[in-house]
Amino acid sequence: MARFVLATRRFAWPLALAMSTLLAGCERPPITATQNGWRGTGMDQIGNPRTAAVVALANTLPEAVPPIPDGGPKAKEVFKNVQVLGDLSVGQFTRTMLAITAWVAPKEGCTYCHAAGDDLSVDKLYTKKVARQMLTMTRSINNDWSSHVGATGATCYTCHRGQPVPAQLWFTNPGPKHAGGASADPAGQNYPAPLANLSSLPYDPLTLLLTKPGQMVRVNSTTALPEGNPRNIKQAEVTYALMTHMSQSLGVNCTFCHNTRAFGNWAESPPQRMTAFQGLSMVRTLNADHLVPLTDTFPANRRGPAGDAPKVHCGTCHQGVSKPLYGAPMAKDFPAMGTVKAAPTAAADKPAGDAPPAAATAAVGTEAVKPVAQKVADNRKP
Ligand code: HEC
Ligand code: HEC
Ligand code: HEC
Ligand code: HEC
Repeated sequence: MARFVLATRRFAWPLALAMSTLLAGCERPPITATQNGWRGTGMDQIGNPRTAAVVALANTLPEAVPPIPDGGPKAKEVFKNVQVLGDLSVGQFTRTMLAITAWVAPKEGCTYCHAAGDDLSVDKLYTKKVARQMLTMTRSINNDWSSHVGATGATCYTCHRGQPVPAQLWFTNPGPKHAGGASADPAGQNYPAPLANLSSLPYDPLTLLLTKPGQMVRVNSTTALPEGNPRNIKQAEVTYALMTHMSQSLGVNCTFCHNTRAFGNWAESPPQRMTAFQGLSMVRTLNADHLVPLTDTFPANRRGPAGDAPKVHCGTCHQGVSKPLYGAPMAKDFPAMGTVKAAPTAAADKPAGDAPPAAATAAVGTEAVKPVAQKVADNRKP
């Protein structure tokens, strides 16, 4: 007995150490689980009130901008150089300037975009030129992408949260320097990728999948044997890196959008996957049409290591929650930010088999969604 106690004592510390190392990867309770799929499918969302509190802090609402009576002449009749907001009344225009100052540069004020001492119509600072493009972009988000942002919509605050540079954005990642030769090429992975939750998945999935309309995420075969499917394991890894980024950005698990029994199957996926699908198309368009064209407008210190413009990803708006700012309607009181309307109901046409719902093809602002077979065929062409 004494011997046993001695032996236990001797191993107690190493054992405790080993256990604590093992458990360090686990999260401290309390853990919550919310079911969002059929019973028995394990489609739970795992949460933790402690981490939720941190996320809540990043998602506080802006102070209200008091309304200003409408009417009076149009801005373009009064001001000299309004290219986007010309049709607003002078009252609405002024309110918009006040609002964007509060949303983007509250500390810096008007002079963040209008050089002190200059006439307000002069386009001298790069920030004013960028802001004009941002106005066009925000209008397009609300006017053309109701399939994603619905009636909630977005304003400058959705991304900026009271600072000139949004907390989350991304650049093309050229990766670490390495010696030459084929064997030395890490093929974009095996370095902890912050975009992919510090996994060793490819560290730059976004350049491949979020910069141009039509980029292909799907890798699964839709037949029992992968006949004719040219997608390979490398491409699957890029898809998984993107999916990890999406989960992380929204603070959700894969099961928020998938029944993991069959990742590719649309019929078994929760409706959120359809919203996410539209989100992917939207983000590609925002980057291609609004951020990338600003490359030369941004000064060098705002560009990435490869000289590219800062770009938008899911986290730029979502910042850790499945609906940015917990779904607070952002745009409805700001006609200058475009017109919001409720999203078309994706539930109306539940898809059959693996095809995305018809709504994906019909919805406004969507890149054409070809049947999987057609996409696979296209992909074979050089
Ligand atoms: C984040 C950048 C930004 C901030 C901050 C900002 N503005 Fe502007 N301002 C713009 C842009 C962009 C335009 C041009 C809009 C267009 O082309 O439709 C503009 C145009 C104007 C004009 C029209 C000038 C003319 O004759 O063409 C006035 C007046 C103005 N701003 C006033 C203000 C005031 C006052 C503030 C501070 C309360 C302010 N702005 C803060 C970006 C900004
Ligand atoms: C979808 C997200 C998104 C929305 C909405 C958005 N922005 Fe931006 N904005 C960005 C990103 C990303 C950048 C790049 C940050 C940087 O300059 O490094 C940026 C940059 C800017 C800059 C340059 C800041 C700097 O110091 O370099 C200004 C000014 C700006 N935005 C104004 C606005 C205004 C005004 C609106 C609303 C009309 C708006 N943004 C809406 C994402 C957004
Ligand atoms: C916010 C919703 C969302 C989350 C969270 C999400 N996915 Fe996806 N996933 C999608 C969408 C949308 C597509 C289809 C994209 C397309 O067709 O262009 C997709 C496609 C996929 C595919 C490819 C399916 C095919 O047809 O080849 C795989 C594999 C996948 N997801 C795995 C995952 C994994 C693993 C996770 C968790 C790390 C995850 N997803 C999290 C929305 C999501
Ligand atoms: C311009 C800002 C913006 C960007 C960028 C953005 N989203 Fe969203 N997203 C929203 C808004 C706003 C809503 C809320 C829509 C509503 O209330 O109907 C939303 C809702 C969603 C939902 C539905 C959540 C729910 O609880 O039903 C999913 C899923 C989603 N987004 C996924 C994505 C993914 C994935 C990306 C990146 C590919 C992305 N979003 C990029 C603004 C954005």
